[in-house]
Amino acid sequence: MTLQRCDTIESIRGAVRAARAAGRTIGIVPTMGNLHAGHASLIDASVGDGHFTVVTIFVNPTQFGPTEDLAAYPRTGEADLALCEAHGAAAAFMPAVEAMYPPGARTSIHVAALTEGLCGASRPGHFDGVCTVVAKLFNIVGPDAAYFGQKDAQQAIVLRRMAKDLDFPIALHVCPTVREADGLAMSSRNQYLTADQRRQATALHGALRLAAERIARGSTGAAALEAAMREHLAAHAPDGTVDYIALVNPEDLTCVQDVNGPVLIALAVKVGRARLIDNLMVDPRDRL
Ligand code: PAF
Repeated sequence: MTLQRCDTIESIRGAVRAARAAGRTIGIVPTMGNLHAGHASLIDASVGDGHFTVVTIFVNPTQFGPTEDLAAYPRTGEADLALCEAHGAAAAFMPAVEAMYPPGARTSIHVAALTEGLCGASRPGHFDGVCTVVAKLFNIVGPDAAYFGQKDAQQAIVLRRMAKDLDFPIALHVCPTVREADGLAMSSRNQYLTADQRRQATALHGALRLAAERIARGSTGAAALEAAMREHLAAHAPDGTVDYIALVNPEDLTCVQDVNGPVLIALAVKVGRARLIDNLMVDPRDRL
C-alpha cells in the first residue's frame, strides 16, 4: 500500500475515517522523526498486529527545555517517509507547529509524581510537553493501539498512567529497546557523538549489564550496585557526566533500596552534546 502523507489534522482524520469505514483498526506510532531501526520496530509491531498504521512525525517544541537541542534536532523528512513506506505504515502525519499549537493554546497535561524523578528532575516541564502532545495526537488520530519504546521507560510509564487517568480507550504497547551491535541503544541523539564519544557511549549499556549480572548472582543492595555502575562509567566513559543512575520500582518509579522484586535500572549520561538514556528491567528471581 502506498503511504499517505498528511500534513493537516483534517487530512489525517479523513484518512483514518476512510480506513475505519473499510473495517480497519488503527495503530499509532508517535515519533519526532529522524527514524531509525528502533522506530521501525514499533511500526513493524503495529503493522504486524494488523492495524492501519499512522506514524506521527512532529518535533514537539513543548518537550524541549530552553537550553536543549530543539533547533539542532535532526529533521530528515524524506528519509523518514521512505522508512515508513518500507515498513508498511499506511499514513504519516506531519503537522506544522502552528497547527498543533495555534495561538492562544493554554492547556497542558501534568502527570504528578511519576514525572518528578529520573529525567523529570533535570528536564522540568519535559513530560508535560510529552503528555500534552501525545494526548492531542490520540485525540486527532483516535487509535485503538499505540506503540512506544522501552528505551524511554519513564515516558512509557507516564503515558500509560495518563491514558488510564484520562480514559483513552487505547492499548499501549511498549516494545523492546533496539540496540547497535555493541549494545548502545538506538537514538537520534547518537549522531551528535564524535567517534571517541561513540566508543565511550557503550559504557551505558555496560554499566546496566554489570548491575544486572550482579543482581542475577545475588546482590541486592541498590547503593552498592549504583556505586559499581558509577565506577564502570568513570573507567569506560571518562568524558561522560552522569545525570542519574537509579534503581526504581517499575510500577511507580519509587527508589528501591533492596532488590527483591522486579527493578528498573535506569541512567542518563551526558556525553559531549548528547544526553543519552538507557535502562534494563531486571527480575532477581531470574537467577543465573
Ligand atoms: O518519544 C518520542 O519521540 C517523543 O517523546 C514523543 C512520544 C513522540 C512525543 O513527542
